[in-house]
Amino acid sequence: MNVLVIGGAGYIGSHVARFFADRGLKVDVLDNLSTGTRENLFSDCGFFEEDILNYRAIVAIMQRGYDAVVHLAAAKAAGESMIRPEKYAIQNLTGTISILNAACEAKIPRLVFSSSAAIYGEPKYLPIDEAHPKDPANFYGFTKLEIERCLEWYDRLKGLKFAALRYFNAAGYDPEGRVHGLERNPANLVPVIMEVAVGLRPHLEVFGTDYSTPDGSGVRDYIHVTDLAEAHYAALMHLVEEPGSFAVNLGSERGLSVLEILDTARRITGRPIPAVMTGRRPGDPAKLVASSAAAKKLLGWEAKYSDAETIIATSWRAYAQHFAHERERP
Ligand code: WQD
Repeated sequence: MNVLVIGGAGYIGSHVARFFADRGLKVDVLDNLSTGTRENLFSDCGFFEEDILNYRAIVAIMQRGYDAVVHLAAAKAAGESMIRPEKYAIQNLTGTISILNAACEAKIPRLVFSSSAAIYGEPKYLPIDEAHPKDPANFYGFTKLEIERCLEWYDRLKGLKFAALRYFNAAGYDPEGRVHGLERNPANLVPVIMEVAVGLRPHLEVFGTDYSTPDGSGVRDYIHVTDLAEAHYAALMHLVEEPGSFAVNLGSERGLSVLEILDTARRITGRPIPAVMTGRRPGDPAKLVASSAAAKKLLGWEAKYSDAETIIATSWRAYAQHFAHERERP
């Protein structure tokens, strides 16, 4: 099976490409390297450096003949989306329409889409299942929800079958250490903690310790990126074997607090990781935890690597190795 992984040089995309290639799929990566890195490309996968907004170019690539496209090429910083909505409108909305139209023109029958828990907004109940009201609290979440709505129409009118995978908090690195690219200027908790641990940042700011949670800090559902990659594979196989499109949550169903993650990181890295307790970040809910029952039932999928220790240990190996190499450079 031939698969085009769009955004496959990025953090999650490279883990998906690696997982698919390990399962014997023929993988090509399309990426403009705006946030992805060449370091995340693999010798057993093809690569096209191209921008999803270059419609004629991506149609020509897709006409090489693919059984499916995986789309992981969106801008994903919720906070930035509220400051620069124009970037998110172009990259996420226009960019995805370009991909959908090109896939239809190239007669590619299936698409796996990287969606997000951000489509739900402030939780009305926990754990969050797929029936939860969808009321995004930021423009990033809005773009992901609008894309899901477009996918429903492209299925209905063009026969493009899709799987929308609603990630909760993606974290961790390949347990076999084969993915090396670090995110640039991350805003998410785990990579920020890693940057403090290697000395790139002076301290972690803990955004709020007065939430109604056991230790007062924010609780999130962290899902290991290899668990996410496996879910993409299971979703693609389901699209091949079964006729219908679907959307499922992908989370560990386990809530971890900021301070729990911080304590785990200090223990595993052996580094002090200084932290400053600051005010809440606007828009942050106290707790977000997924129900992944639908993914279990439909895909037979469940998280295996998403415990705090594995997430931190695999992240730490990636960061420690990267900066050890940095220090060795003349
Ligand atoms: C996690 C927790 C923060 C940084 C975001 C996007 C969401 C999805 C996942 C793509 C919260 C706290 C964080 C820091 C902190 N992205 N924190 N200090 O906000 O849950 O979700 O990433 O789909 O759409 O919104 O992730 O990692 O930013 O925050 O205290 O320096 O860590 O308050 O409780 P978030 P996050």
